[in-house]
Amino acid sequence: MEQTFEQRIKNMPNRLAPSMAKDHPNLPVIKEEGCYYYGLDGRKYLDFTSGIAVTNVGHRHPKVVQAIKDAADGLMHGPSGVIMYDSILRLADELAEILPGDLDCFFFANSGTEAIEGAIKLAKYVTERPYVISFTGCFHGRSMGALSVTTSKSKYRKFMQPSGLTYQVPYANESECPNGVDSESYVIEKLEKDFESLFIHQVTPEEVACVILEPVLGEGGYIVPPKAWLKKVREICDRHQILLIFDEVQTGFGRTGNWFAAQTFDVNPDIMAIAKGIASGLPLSATVASNELMKKWPLGSHGTTFGGNPIACSVGLATLEIMKEENLLENTRNMGHYAVQKLQQIKDKYNVIGSIRAVGLMIGIEIINPYTGKPNNEGLMKILDLALEKGVLFYLCGKHSEVIRMIPPLIVTKEQIDDGLRMFDEAVSEYEASILND
Ligand SMILES: Cc1ncc(COP(=O)(O)O)c(C=O)c1O
Repeated sequence: MEQTFEQRIKNMPNRLAPSMAKDHPNLPVIKEEGCYYYGLDGRKYLDFTSGIAVTNVGHRHPKVVQAIKDAADGLMHGPSGVIMYDSILRLADELAEILPGDLDCFFFANSGTEAIEGAIKLAKYVTERPYVISFTGCFHGRSMGALSVTTSKSKYRKFMQPSGLTYQVPYANESECPNGVDSESYVIEKLEKDFESLFIHQVTPEEVACVILEPVLGEGGYIVPPKAWLKKVREICDRHQILLIFDEVQTGFGRTGNWFAAQTFDVNPDIMAIAKGIASGLPLSATVASNELMKKWPLGSHGTTFGGNPIACSVGLATLEIMKEENLLENTRNMGHYAVQKLQQIKDKYNVIGSIRAVGLMIGIEIINPYTGKPNNEGLMKILDLALEKGVLFYLCGKHSEVIRMIPPLIVTKEQIDDGLRMFDEAVSEYEASILND
């Protein structure tokens, strides 16, 4: 007899690899719309995850659904090279308009990881240099190339250590700054010293193809660096003719309140990797560079069968149109500001909330042990479960999985933020009461 969804959920551990089922919360869902998931249990859940920063224009926006239907009536598969189609060329034109600096030429792929692979390969090819520098704590994906620069958690590498030719330097962490010292100057001086030490002891700058980083640390814990720190990274790269790659897979497409974090921080990279929000849930990503740089990367040095799928490109175009029509960059700035103010008020009432770190609608809420001040993953899981019971989904990040990620769709309203943070407030209150009663 045909199994029901409920029965298949029970059998899920036998059918899906644990690494596919992922960490939290695996909510059985039958429909998604706007800022909501509709559960198999008949309940409606407010989504503050955007499917991990993907559905920026909301789930199943009517224009996105229409774009899929219209595109499927014409073309479903490329591949570019065998055929050429308008949606991929139009998307490249329109993306070039919103990207910073001279980033105007695209290699389309399917996932963020692939865009990173492309970025690293491009940098190595055009510089003819073998080494890559990344920042400790950054997440760039899990294929062997991307993993060679991913250091957000060692469990991602355990028994699978990549053999990539990479070096790591620490990311900006103002919280480590000694008392009485200006934290911005501290992280900038530290950056200079870390690079100097790396270049003296381990690798000469002439051998380094690129420096890659997330302009805001994502999976590693939502750490926002000072603008001046990012500018210093740019300066160090320029000093040694090293290419700078921004991984904007998560920070891109409006999340920080501008199209890209490069604009929020006013620092332009030479190469950018974009994915997630660009096609509202369809698999699409791109490695982006100037035409001048891309021209040096000849035919055959990289390739793809599925990259730049015609339906995904049409959805990319629809997503851009929606973001502009609905002023979603402005909404992101306003709602981000509003949510952070409310979160500060909530933080003031409790002892388990550490710092709140945010840019636009990329908001991290650190959960700590109220007695030791240390990261509190157990508490975070309990708070997420309690919040879910009440009807709101958050996600998590941080090296100890101690930071709650609040990344609602960029269409989120004040009322939805009020509603979600009311449930969050109740969840924190119940958790704190439970540990104080222990
Ligand atoms: C900053 C960053 N880079 C790369 C990736 C990898 O993207 P994907 O999972 O689409 O391969 C992610 C995914 O979470 C990410 O957040």
